[in-house]
Amino acid sequence: MSAVTIRDLALEFDDSPPVRALDGVDLEIAEGSSLALVGESGSGKSTLASVLGRLQPRSARIVRGSVHVAGTDVLSLDTPALRRFRRDELAFVAQDPIGSLDPTMRIGRQLQLVLQSTGRDASLRRRVEMLEAMRIADPERVIPLFPHQVSGGMAQRIAIALALCRGPRLLIADEPTAALDSQVREEVVRLMFDQARALGTTILWLSHDLPAVARWCDDVAVMYAGRVVERGRAADVLGAPVHPYSRALAATDPSRVSQGERLVSIPGAPPVLHGEAVGCAFESRCPSRIDACARTRPQPLGPRATLCIRTDELRPRVRESEVSA
Ligand SMILES: Nc1ncnc2c1ncn2[C@@H]1O[C@H](COP(=O)(O)OP(=O)(O)O)[C@@H](O)[C@H]1O
Ligand SMILES: [Mg+2]
Repeated sequence: MSAVTIRDLALEFDDSPPVRALDGVDLEIAEGSSLALVGESGSGKSTLASVLGRLQPRSARIVRGSVHVAGTDVLSLDTPALRRFRRDELAFVAQDPIGSLDPTMRIGRQLQLVLQSTGRDASLRRRVEMLEAMRIADPERVIPLFPHQVSGGMAQRIAIALALCRGPRLLIADEPTAALDSQVREEVVRLMFDQARALGTTILWLSHDLPAVARWCDDVAVMYAGRVVERGRAADVLGAPVHPYSRALAATDPSRVSQGERLVSIPGAPPVLHGEAVGCAFESRCPSRIDACARTRPQPLGPRATLCIRTDELRPRVRESEVSA
């Protein structure tokens, strides 16, 4: 069964004129797998992730499409069912760890409330074990502290512990390490993946860190201007990308990309769409463009469902792993 199935999802933000942040997204995530959503800032990653919990801003309007999480039709839930769905199936980890914890409440108390809310053992011993599982040394010292009294790396580990203690079906992590020092990044990502995998939780990781994505994720979806332009096994998509945008992304030097910045080695900037893109949204920046690109809306081609009308020409060879796909 698939954990997430998104079909032709289009969304606009109310503005004059309206901004189309999602322009027909198709995406599937297999139960228990991990998928990274990559792409420059502004490509629609956070908006897409928010729709999975129907947490998009009020100014957003779904234009068309469907979203299913573990068989649940998310867009048609009534309010009580939506609340239950968020509580029982989903967990979010945000970019700013300290901001995602309650600043007015001691860490131990926050752990206790989350455990109690789902009828789990909330004893001090259990809370200590949870922090130990996140490699927090001396948990007894941390339990009485307030969020502002711990480091960003520790706060993010606590946020992950809080997210996972309910045993969610799907963990959505939106650039969870972007605000952390590079030394603690790797440890936090490793803990997140280890803990989620131990629970069988499906992971959707929004990330700029392509080497880490290649290392940790099963699959990758590359987003551009509100569409998934290529998807497949992480090693294939990052190692031998087909779509010109994925190629440009894979060729960027990750050390030059800092938090929230766009990838400097791709000239130009992503477009802001008003209504559906007529042709390929990458056309004006694309080194492989032909005249037809501006007027032909690309449909998925090839085993990676690549959104490029030149997919067959640009695909150098069919890899072993894709023959059966
Ligand atoms: N609350 C909002 N109101 C209006 N436009 C928004 C809002 N949030 C995002 N957008 C626009 O939607 C597009 C996608 O943004 P976002 O989902 O944040 O991308 P990413 O997470 O990939 O950086 C961008 O053009 C952005 O400016
Ligand atoms: Mg974002």
